[in-house]
Amino acid sequence: MANTGFTLWFTGLSGAGKSTLSEAIEKRLQQHGRNVEILDGDIVRTHLSKGLGFSREDRDTNIKRIAFVCSLLTRNGVVCISAAIAPYREARDWARHEIGNFVEVYVKCPIDVCRQRDVKGLYKLVDEGKLKGFTGVDDPYEEPEYPELIIETDKETLDESVTHILNKLVELGYLDPTYLEETADVR
Ligand SMILES: Nc1ncnc2c1ncn2[C@@H]1O[C@H](COP(=O)(O)OP(=O)(O)OP(=O)(O)O)[C@@H](O)[C@H]1O
Ligand SMILES: [Mg+2]
Repeated sequence: MANTGFTLWFTGLSGAGKSTLSEAIEKRLQQHGRNVEILDGDIVRTHLSKGLGFSREDRDTNIKRIAFVCSLLTRNGVVCISAAIAPYREARDWARHEIGNFVEVYVKCPIDVCRQRDVKGLYKLVDEGKLKGFTGVDDPYEEPEYPELIIETDKETLDESVTHILNKLVELGYLDPTYLEETADVR
């Protein structure tokens, strides 16, 4: 089990908590010596998917590229974390099929709370009419039907969410129970 690669696939609205959770989980896994790679939507779009926009076709292409990289890493024992919005069910299901060891986590948060958080100031731009085609506002977000886990970030703290995710990964057999023990911060 020690080196089983898997992909932790977060999906949810902008501001729901995908990047925050990715970094927290990465830290916990690295403390156990695991190789972890985060494919975050923002970073991917400046490199791997540079030039792609936000049409359905471009969003699907973006997700397929992320899934392809995840599949390569996963089969080599890496823990791969995808932190893109991934709004379309079909593309996520394609990723699941492509990758195999796939754990879909719906990072669920009401849009009003995401708007209040407005981590990147994007909701303000949307409200000012300066940003169109924004997921959850005037572009679709298709909720997962059968995610392995739902995390409601308006109802729990980051630490609680991290614990829920690690518990699920242990339950699914991707991590051994020692991962549930807090390790001293090694940074
Ligand atoms: N339980 C929780 N899990 C994760 N984030 C939380 C939680 N509770 C509150 N937050 C806060 O919610 C915000 C989430 O912002 P974050 O940038 O992670 O969202 P995102 O899903 O990556 O958005 P985007 O798609 O725009 O990149 C952060 O400010 C974080 O501190
Ligand atoms: Mg993010």
